[in-house]
Parts: sequence; structure tokens; C-alpha cells
Amino acid sequence: MTEMLEKKNIIMGISGGIAAYKSVELLRLLTKQGADVRVLMTRNACRFVGPLTLEALSGKVVCTHLFQEGENASIGHIEWAKDADAVIIAPATANIIGKMAGGIADDALTTFVLAVTAPILICPSMNTDMYQSPVVQRNLSLLEKDGHIILRPDSGELACGVTGPGRLPDPEQILERLIKAMCPQDLSGKRVMVTAGPTQEPIDPVRFLSNPSSGKMGYAIARAAQRRGALVTLISGLTSLQDPSDVKVIRIQTAAQMASAVFEHFEEMDIIVKSAAVSDYRPEERAGEKIKKDKNEMMLNLVRNQDILAEIGQRKGDRFLVGFAAETEALDQNATKKLRKKNLDMIVGNIVKGEDSAFGSDTNKVSLYYRDGNQEALPMMDKEGLANRLLDRIVERSNK
Ligand SMILES: Cc1cc2nc3c(=O)[nH]c(=O)nc-3n(C[C@H](O)[C@H](O)[C@H](O)COP(=O)(O)O)c2cc1C
Repeated sequence: MTEMLEKKNIIMGISGGIAAYKSVELLRLLTKQGADVRVLMTRNACRFVGPLTLEALSGKVVCTHLFQEGENASIGHIEWAKDADAVIIAPATANIIGKMAGGIADDALTTFVLAVTAPILICPSMNTDMYQSPVVQRNLSLLEKDGHIILRPDSGELACGVTGPGRLPDPEQILERLIKAMCPQDLSGKRVMVTAGPTQEPIDPVRFLSNPSSGKMGYAIARAAQRRGALVTLISGLTSLQDPSDVKVIRIQTAAQMASAVFEHFEEMDIIVKSAAVSDYRPEERAGEKIKKDKNEMMLNLVRNQDILAEIGQRKGDRFLVGFAAETEALDQNATKKLRKKNLDMIVGNIVKGEDSAFGSDTNKVSLYYRDGNQEALPMMDKEGLANRLLDRIVERSNK
């Protein structure tokens, strides 16, 4: 669940396209995220999906025509427009797109959108030739120029049997685009590198040295930065997490592979957040075959891995560099020492011992330490909330 949509007033507009059935799933996703959703349907949309289904899922009266009696009588569309935090039109037919581009208000949905000041996300879906027709493309450009957000359709086999662009993106993709539309775009155009997850140092073909990092914190930062407009590269060790949308993900296994990926992309970055749990040591030798248990004891000789953070700290220039310090004791001293030694702008310190350990958990309790000597203790937060708080601080401090 994302805090972005909790208690937000979202209006879903549904027009008469074959993909109207997907709006049922979209509505379910939105309500699951805690959003307060009201549905507006064109008369033709009601031929594809029953208002009753949407009424039951939203728990609210569905508006299907302008002069509807009852709760939303006469000027209901103005009331809904005033309260809206965002609007999604999915699917948007060629017809609704044409009417919106021309300022026509001849039904409840088109009248409503004229009165809205909140962001409007339009999701066109139609036959490929219809979608590619000059008039639909011209109308979409006009709507884009007017400040509306267009989520371009996917390509694939359409219900009409044609293959090409025109398919309504999956509800999850629509939801993700909506969340982005509702986020501040304060990292717009910034190039952000995030490292996440554990590294693995092979001992033999079936064993390795590693740590319990789940990667959740780094993935949350990458996702939040992308939503706030950044171009994000995520360098990740092995995790069970889904790739965040629209993020370039580079997968690595060892600390040495992490180092080469970081060094390869470091130069082009504006902000670097190193949240990965990189192994300090690796076995000196990696056995070619599985080591047999024919001895009672065995020695594993370890050698130091390169200190990636210290290396980029030396070369950081005016890039904003954030490190993480996972400590089991003396957090303030250890974190501030690491901040200075590695030439960081900010370090996120936490204690990884006992019940509050962040390893694998969905929550984290951290303290932030800054280059100027200031520090800030944050309360226990979920990792998404914390990711946004860290980005708030990075934006404030990198703009100084
Ligand atoms: C079976 C069927 C499927 C349709 N699918 C679409 C569609 O996917 N996209 C679209 O733009 N129009 C589609 N149309 C045409 C629209 O329903 C038609 O243009 C209608 O006037 C749209 O009305 P509305 O925009 O007020 O809902 C379809 C029509 C039929 C009969």
C-alpha cells in the first residue's frame, strides 16, 4: 500500500470502450490503496460494464448522467470536481478524447472534466487505426498541451483482432502513473543511482557469504525517486523484489561486480544513494567444485573487497552522496566517523540488532547525519514513507 493515495479523492471516468472491464480491477486497486473513489460513466460505458458492479466496489453512487436525481443532482459535477485530488479516464474512447480536446460538455463526464483543476490522467484505448488516425493524434497533442497527462496505450493483439498500439495498459501501470502524477516533481531530470540488496561472495559453486539485506529500503528509494521525476539506475544484489517501474535495473552478485557497475555509471549521476549491504570481505579463492565435508574443520581465508563508497567519496565532485551505516552499537560515533572518512553529504544510520532491526522488515527507524554536523532522529516509519523523507532532505540539501 502506498501512502500517496490514502484518503485521496480520486474520480474515475469510464467511457464506452471494450477495455471498460479493466476499470473494475483498477477501481479495486485504488480502493485497496485507501483512496476514496467516485465513478462517472458515459451512457455508452454502461453497455460494456454494469454501474452496479462499480457502485458495489466503490461503495458510492455512480454518476451516469448529468441530470441524475438524488445525491448528485444538478450541480454534483461541480462538487465532485472541487474535491478531486486526481482524475483517471480509463478507458478513454476516441469520442471522449475528441470532445475533451474541443471543450464539448454534453454529458456528465465531459462536463465534469471541464470543471476540474486537479491532474487528469487520460488512458486512450481503441483499435490501432483509430488510435493512429491523424485526428486522434492531434486531439491527444492538444490535450497534452493543455496540461493533461496521456498514458500511451500498449501494443499487442487487440479485441478487434488487429495487432498494434491501442491496448489499455494493465491497471497496475495506470495506478503507478497516477501516483507519479500526484507526486511533487522535485527531482525532475535528476540522474539518481541507488544501490540495494546484499552481495554474495562465492565459496564454491553452491555456497556463498552474504547477509540478510532484503533490498526493500533501496527499492523504495528508487521507486520514490522515479515517481518524483528522477532518471533512476538501481544496482541490485539478489532480492525477491519486483523491479520498480521505469527504473533501469542492473543486477550484480559480488562486491566486485557492484564496484564495476557503480564506477561505470557514477560519472553521469547527480545523486548517489548507497543502501546496498556490500560484503567487506570475500574468500581468497573460489573452489571450482563443491567442497566435500571430509574434514572436521576448515579454514576460509578472506581478503578485503574494494571500499566502493570511499572510492566514489574521493571522486564525488558536486554530486550528492548518501551512505548507510548499519551498526550494532555506538550509532552516533560510528555513523559520523563514516560520514567524514568517506566524504559523504549525508549518512542514514540505524541499529541492526534486536527487535527493531530493519533487515527484511517493512519498517525502519533511522537517524540522519549531515556533513555540516547536524543530525536528526526520525521515528519508526514504513520504508516508503522513509524513502520520501530521505528524498525531501536530499532535495533541500542539494539545492543549498
Ligand atoms: C463492441 C464495441 C467496442 C468498442 N470499443 C471501442 C474502443 O475500444 N475504443 C473506442 O474509442 N471506441 C470503441 N467503440 C466505439 C464507442 O463505443 C463509440 O465511439 C461511442 O460513441 C463512445 O461513447 P462515449 O465516448 O460517450 O463512451 C466500440 C464500440 C462497440 C460497439
